[in-house]
Amino acid sequence: MEKSNIGLIGLGVMGQNLALNLADKGWMVSVWNRQGPGEAESVADRFVRERGKGKSVIACKGLDDFCDTLQRPRVVMLMVTANAVDEVIENVIPYLDEGDIIVDGGNSNFEDTGRRVKELYERGFYFVGAGVSGGEEGALHGASIMPGGAEEAWPVVKPILQSIAAKAEDGTPCCEWIGKGGAGHYVKMAHNGIEYAEMQLIAEVYSLMKRIGNMNNEEMGLLFTHWNETDLRSFLIEITGKILRHRDVTGAYVVDKILDVANQKGTGRWSVQNALDLNEPIGLIAEAVFARDVSGKKQLREKLGRIYSQESNLTLYQRDELVRPLYETLSVSRIVSYAQGFSLLKKASEVYRWNLNLASVALIWRNGCILRSELLNPIAEAFLVNPQLENLLADPFFSKRVKTSLPSWKKVVTMAVKEEVPLPAVSSALHYFYSVTTAHLPANLIQAQRDFFGAHTFERVDEPRGAFFHELWRS
Ligand code: 6PG
Repeated sequence: MEKSNIGLIGLGVMGQNLALNLADKGWMVSVWNRQGPGEAESVADRFVRERGKGKSVIACKGLDDFCDTLQRPRVVMLMVTANAVDEVIENVIPYLDEGDIIVDGGNSNFEDTGRRVKELYERGFYFVGAGVSGGEEGALHGASIMPGGAEEAWPVVKPILQSIAAKAEDGTPCCEWIGKGGAGHYVKMAHNGIEYAEMQLIAEVYSLMKRIGNMNNEEMGLLFTHWNETDLRSFLIEITGKILRHRDVTGAYVVDKILDVANQKGTGRWSVQNALDLNEPIGLIAEAVFARDVSGKKQLREKLGRIYSQESNLTLYQRDELVRPLYETLSVSRIVSYAQGFSLLKKASEVYRWNLNLASVALIWRNGCILRSELLNPIAEAFLVNPQLENLLADPFFSKRVKTSLPSWKKVVTMAVKEEVPLPAVSSALHYFYSVTTAHLPANLIQAQRDFFGAHTFERVDEPRGAFFHELWRS
C-alpha cells in the first residue's frame, strides 16, 4: 500500500484545514485524532467521510496504525493545544523510529519548544517548532509558516511546508527556516506581539473617529476601506473596513453589539514577559496587552466612569481636521510597533544565538499571516540593505516617513489628552520615539538616587564607559 508523506494529529479546524491544504498540494496525508468518550464514529473517520471526501487523506484508528501508514523518515505534524503537546509526543513516540520528525504547528511557548528540540534530539528524533499564522483561512489556502528547531529535519519538511505556505507577490513561499531551538515559535510570538499592537492602534484610531469625529460606522468603514488602497494597505485594515460596515439580519451593526472586553490566549503577553527578561523596551506592545487587560475591568470602568463623568465637554472635530492626522498617526505608530518587534527579535537572536535573518522574517510575513501588509516590503528592504540595523527608526526610508508624520502624531495625542479619550498605544509609541531619539535622558538622576540609597554606583560622563563610581552623598 502506498505510504503517506505526512501524518497529522489533531483535527480541530486548523488541523482539518491544514490536512486539506496538504492533500490539495498532492501529498498523501494520514490523520488521527483522540477519540472522545462515547463517540460512535471517530473524528478522523468523520473528517475523511465529509470534508476529506475524495481527497488523499487516510483516517487512522490508533497511533500504531497511523505511524505504520507513514513513509520514512516519518513526518508527524501536531495541531493540538499547547498544553497537550508533551502528552501527545509521549503517546506517539513508541511507534516512531530513530530519525523520524515531529512538527509542532501550534502556538507553543518557545521555551517549551527549545526544551523539546533538545530532549527529543537526545532520544534520536528531530523536533520542529513551526509558528503558523493566518488563522483558519491561512491553514486552508496558504499560511505564513515559521519553522525552527532540529535543522536536520529541514530538507525533509521544506517541500511539504513550503507547498502549503502562502506565496508572496513575487511567488516566493512565505515559509523559511528560522533557526535552531525555539526560534520558530519565538518569531511567531513576536508576530503576535506586533499583531496585538496593530489591533490596538487601529482600535484607538477608531475610538477617536467615533468619539471626537462623530463618524458613523458606514463612514468609518468606508474610510478604512479607502486607507486599504494607500500605503496603510494591510489585512487588519481591510477587515476593519468590512467589520465596521457589517450588519446582522435586523440591519443593526454587529460591531455595536459586541461587548468591549478583549480576550487573549497568551502569545502577546509572552512577548512582553520575554522582553522584560531581555531588557528590551517594547512599551507599545505592552500597552496593547495591558489595554486588553483594562478592557476586562468592565465593572470598574463603569463605576469609575460614573465618579469622574467623562465625555461631558467633548469637542467635536470636523472630518477634514481629523482624517489626515489620524492616517498619519496610524502609519507612524505602526512603524514603531515593527521597530519594537524587530528590535526584540534582534535582541533574542543575540541572547539565544539564533542568528535570525530579519529580512527573511519580514519577507515571510508578507502574505498568509495576520500581519500581512505592504509595509513588510520596506522593512525587508531595510534589513537586506543593513542586516545589522539596530532599529527600524534608523533606516532612511522610515526616518523620512516618521518626520513627515510627526506633526500629525503630536496633534492627535494632544487632542486625545484634551478630550480625555484613552490612547495608550499611540501615546506610548510617541513617547518611545521621543525617548529613543533623546541623547540625554534623566536617567542620571535615577542613578544618583540608586547610589544615594544603596551605593549602587554610577558611570560618569567624564570617564570611559564601564568605570563605576560611588559618591558619599551624606557627607
Ligand atoms: C495568527 C494568530 C493566531 C492567534 C489568534 C488569537 O497568527 O494566525 O496570531 O495564532 O491565536 O489571533 O490570538 P489571541 O486570542 O491571543 O488574540
